[in-house]
Order: sequence, then C-alpha cells, then structure tokens
Amino acid sequence: MAESDWIVIEGVNPATAQYPLGVAAGGEEILIFRVGAKLCGIQRICPHQEADLEGGKVMGEMLKCPHHGYIFRFDTGRCLNFPGVNADVYEVSTDNDTLRVRRRT
Ligand code: FES
Repeated sequence: MAESDWIVIEGVNPATAQYPLGVAAGGEEILIFRVGAKLCGIQRICPHQEADLEGGKVMGEMLKCPHHGYIFRFDTGRCLNFPGVNADVYEVSTDNDTLRVRRRT
C-alpha cells in the first residue's frame, strides 16, 4: 500500500485517548483497540449481524463479538469460528503523536 493510503485522524492524541476508540475514516466507522503495546483497528459493525463491536472482548490478537461470539483476527479480519465472514481491519500508526489508519489488503 502507498503512503497516501494512510488517513489522519484529527483531534486525537493517541497517548491519552481512551480505548477502544471509535473513529471515522474512509467513510467507515472504525474501532481502535489497545492490544499489548500496539493498536489494532477493526470495523465497528460486526459483519455477521451488525452488532457494535465496541463491547467485544480482546483475546490476544483477536476480537470476540459480544453478540454471537464470532472471533475475528486483527491482522487479517478472518473469522475463526465461522469461515467466510470477514471484518475489515486497519493498521494503526501513532508516529509523531499523530493517529493514522489504513485499511489492510
Ligand atoms: S453479530 Fe457479531 S457474531 Fe453475530
């Protein structure tokens, strides 16, 4: 992906923000979760039956939907327990205290 694919999230200090953090970028609502020392982005609305993933449970490098328990990988968006249902996932950068996201794949 090109450097130009990064979308700057204005008005957010990534060091002091509360996570999960909901942001809008590229016409989509995204949730950013803290996973250990890094930040991971995923579409806010579950691709299964549209539950809000804000209440999802972080399980290592994965997120479990609070509604039916589908588990999505932060790196690929693939669902582990229901193949074929995939979420849009995002890389998150905090270089120079600026929050940026870009869609993976
Ligand atoms: S709505 Fe998320 S798993 Fe069904």
